[in-house]
Amino acid sequence: MMPTDKIHIEKNSVQETLIVPLYGRKMCAEKFPQLYTDSSAKMLCERLDYDFSAQEAKKDTFIYEFGALEAAMRQLDIMWEIKDYLKDHPKAVVVNLGCGLDQTGSACDNGMCEIVNIDFPDIIAVRKQLIPAGQREKNIAMDLKDYQWMNEVDGTNGVIFFAAGVFHYFKTEEVRNLVLTLSKRYPGGRLIFDTVGKLGLKLMMSKILKNMGIADIDGYFYVNDPAKELSWSENLKVSSRGYMLGYYDMKTKGVRPSHRLLAKIGDGWMKMAVHRIAF
Ligand SMILES: C[S@@+](CC[C@H](N)C(=O)[O-])C[C@H]1O[C@@H](n2cnc3c(N)ncnc32)[C@H](O)[C@@H]1O
Repeated sequence: MMPTDKIHIEKNSVQETLIVPLYGRKMCAEKFPQLYTDSSAKMLCERLDYDFSAQEAKKDTFIYEFGALEAAMRQLDIMWEIKDYLKDHPKAVVVNLGCGLDQTGSACDNGMCEIVNIDFPDIIAVRKQLIPAGQREKNIAMDLKDYQWMNEVDGTNGVIFFAAGVFHYFKTEEVRNLVLTLSKRYPGGRLIFDTVGKLGLKLMMSKILKNMGIADIDGYFYVNDPAKELSWSENLKVSSRGYMLGYYDMKTKGVRPSHRLLAKIGDGWMKMAVHRIAF
């Protein structure tokens, strides 16, 4: 394929969900460059055969701006966690679960760590055409629910897994099983992921899930009370912070007080959070 050919993304599929954070990162880098820089999201959007007109039409609205901040804050939070882990485990494997077209792994590259990106085969096929893997980086084309992918991740030098915007599409039982399996297989490792509370899942996710043919959000993963709901085993050390304001105060040029107010509401009422589970 010629590098200028556009790559098609199917509408109304789980895979299409990668568009929201990708477009959000592009917008945030354009609108709030002091808070967030991303040199590749714009280029990646341009390479996709996807109708962005609905997003483009709304991009200057307050709520879309907030959506862009959400995408960027999540990535900044997760980068904070990865860099923190790499301080003590510089040769660790950094594993992006449900990577889409996200390049957080390479953004945290310290020159020694390994980077692994995992997603469904059709997404990895798109990714490979758009983002060449670095020397210490590999892509795994598999369903995360098929644990055979773990055979390709060696945690001997430490391992940090992260899932950005992925577990909303999992049932609670599926997340629990995955976490318990990781904890047994990778003692000393860590998992970072974001969640919303029940109200947040209903308000933010129900339309997306409906588009994917999931009418009933019952059973899908949300977290209202992390200390209680994520303590699935005594081997897990759980800590949680606000997704929007737990790591950074967002007091940056261009971010309006109304954005910060909504961020407070997001972290408070919607229970938007980023969790660290240490194994
Ligand atoms: C909302 S997107 C987030 C993409 C990326 N993490 C980001 O922040 O840009 C969700 C991603 O999770 C992937 N995903 C969802 N369920 C998955 C599964 N069971 N196995 C592998 N990937 C999955 C989707 O294909 C999609 O790329």
